[in-house]
This record gives sequence, structure tokens and C-alpha cells, in this order.
Amino acid sequence: MNTTPLAVSRNYFRHRAANQWHKTPAEPGEPGAIRPFLAGNWKMNLVPRSGVALAARIFDICKGVKDVDIGLAPPYTGLSALADYIKPDFLRSEYDLGRNVFLMAQDTFFESKGAYTGEISPEMLAAIGVDRVIIGHSDRRANLGKFFGFSSSVARRLTPDFLTHELDALRKREGVDPQVFAAIEFMAAEQNHEILAGLAKFLEEDLKERAGESDAVTQRKVHASLAQGLQVILCCGENREARALHETFKLLDRQIRIGLEGVSPKTVNEMIIAYEPVWAIGSGAKAAGVEQISEVHDFIRNLVMDLYGEETASVIRILYGGNVNPENIADIMSIAGVDGALVGGASLKAHDFAQIIRFGCLIRDRHSDL
Ligand code: 13P
Repeated sequence: MNTTPLAVSRNYFRHRAANQWHKTPAEPGEPGAIRPFLAGNWKMNLVPRSGVALAARIFDICKGVKDVDIGLAPPYTGLSALADYIKPDFLRSEYDLGRNVFLMAQDTFFESKGAYTGEISPEMLAAIGVDRVIIGHSDRRANLGKFFGFSSSVARRLTPDFLTHELDALRKREGVDPQVFAAIEFMAAEQNHEILAGLAKFLEEDLKERAGESDAVTQRKVHASLAQGLQVILCCGENREARALHETFKLLDRQIRIGLEGVSPKTVNEMIIAYEPVWAIGSGAKAAGVEQISEVHDFIRNLVMDLYGEETASVIRILYGGNVNPENIADIMSIAGVDGALVGGASLKAHDFAQIIRFGCLIRDRHSDL
């Protein structure tokens, strides 16, 4: 194996001054030292055997890397196969990796069992060996809203014909709230047709992007996962619109405050926060700038300090996500508040992800085709 060694041991503790956080190199195992966490979110990609093959290539290139945590989040269908593959004993004998490889799920549901067709509970994930679970990814909070959200289906019902039909049905029913009846009657009246059309358009075009998973749902998932002993990667991040309106901090404050509500100071140690600005995610987008990442990570750490105190704030891991690649990882990891990355597209390429795990260090390996 012809690989360059890791240039630095990235374990940190931090001290705080003037609302800014600094990190200082620490020896692995030193009290307060933080292991960086580089996690790949494969999203809806790869059948199980391809996931195992990709993991094998990543481990092969990263042989012997022990001072970072590595996370892999295949789709639900790939979890079992990967769980069987990444057993600690096997990893140690085959790749000289320690207990630093974590199997992650991309989402979960908040109930433990029942009539929830298509959902997967934290209990089920824990039972097959999942260690960590991503919760509140922007795909779930917003992007998928256009397919599943209620706003466009409501918009389609905001027509005079539909409302008139509803009024007829309500007239035949007993105990209808007069306020509801009056409101529908008002909206269906001819002079309000334009307002109705405008409202339908607003729901259809503007709100649908925000019609995904709410903060409240995210919070329930956090609690359900922690109760099963899963570590949670709570995602947060502003969309382009919020940034343009200077509402980034307000939005993040809400997402994190609600996401962490009810999490005890003891269990908050099982939490990792991932800042993923929605506008920086995916092909065609560009990673956030170092300054932008830095100020948001400071903001998040200060918020955690307000909620849980300085000790927790100084050890909680905060990751960045959004177009992380082998070229920008070194700059991103040098930011004081950044403890790792949640990687999408680049985590599907073994060589790129391996390089990210090594903070962009050039890796030469025997697989020239990777
Ligand atoms: P990309 O790295 O493809 O921008 O995706 C980031 C992400 O959403 C990880 O969860």
C-alpha cells in the first residue's frame, strides 16, 4: 500500500473568546479532544452490493486511519449488507481500522411500530447495528416537500367549483362550525375568485418548497432515536431566500432550539450538529465560503452554550455540509468551529471520499482506476 501518511492529528479542544471559538491541537485521547467526523451521505444511490463494494474501496485507501471517525449512510436497503461488512474485528484485521467506522441511516420515523406503511423506526435501525442517524436533512425538511407536502394538494382544491361542492356537502352535515362555513362561503363568492386564485398560486409555487418535515417532526425523531441509543446528526441550514433576507441566524436558531428541545444535558453528548446551507448543496451549487461557514459555526456553538453551558459547547461536534470535495476540505477543516463534514456527491467516489477523510492529502494507491 503506497499511501502518504496523515499530515496532522486533528484532535482538538477549544477555548472561547469574544464569541469566537478557537481550536488547539490536542493529542488523541487527551481530555476534551474531539475526533473529526467525516461522513458520507449516499442519499438515494447504490444497491446494497455496490454500497459494500464502495465501502471496501474507501477502507482500502484509508487503511490504518485511526484518528478520524468515518461515517457511511447508505439508503435503508443498504444498511444490513453494510452492517455485516463493517464489523470491528473484520475492519481491524482487514484494514487496520479501529472502532472508528460508523454505520448511519439517512432518516427514521418517530414511532416504534404500527400502521405507518413505508416507515422505519429507530428500534429497527438499532437492531441491525446502525450507530448514527441523520435527522432533519434539508431534502426531508424542504426539497421533498414538493412531492409530499400538503400545500400543492391544498392549492388544487382552492377552486370555486371545489369549494361550492364542499359547501353543499357541509349544508347536509350537522354540527358544522359556522365559522368554517362562513369562511368557505366567503372564499367561494364571485368577488373573491381572484384572491382565491392568488392564494392557490402562492401555495403551489412558493410554499411547496417549504412543505416538508417540520421542526416539530424533527424533534420527535431526535427523541425517538436517542431513546434507542442512536447518535443523532441533527441537520440545519438556511435556504437561499433566508440568506438573502438576512434571516439565516433566526432560522438556524429555530431549527436547533426546537430540534434540541427536551434533550437532557446528559444525552446531548450523543448529538452532532450538521450545518448544511441548502443553497450550497448538490451539483451546480458551490460550497459556502470559509467566512460564512466560520460565522455560522460560531453562532451554533454559542447557541449550544446558551442552552447547555460552555463545557457541552466546547465538545459538541459541528459538521459542515454542501459541496465538500478533496480540494476544499483542508480549508474547511481549518475553520475553528468545524469538526468534520457531511458529504454528499463526493462520498460516492472512493478516491474523493478517502481524500476528504484525510483532509485533502494526496493519496496514491494501487487502484489507478478509482
Ligand atoms: P453535496 O456534498 O452533494 O453537496 O451534498 C451535501 C449533503 O446534502 C450531505 O448531506
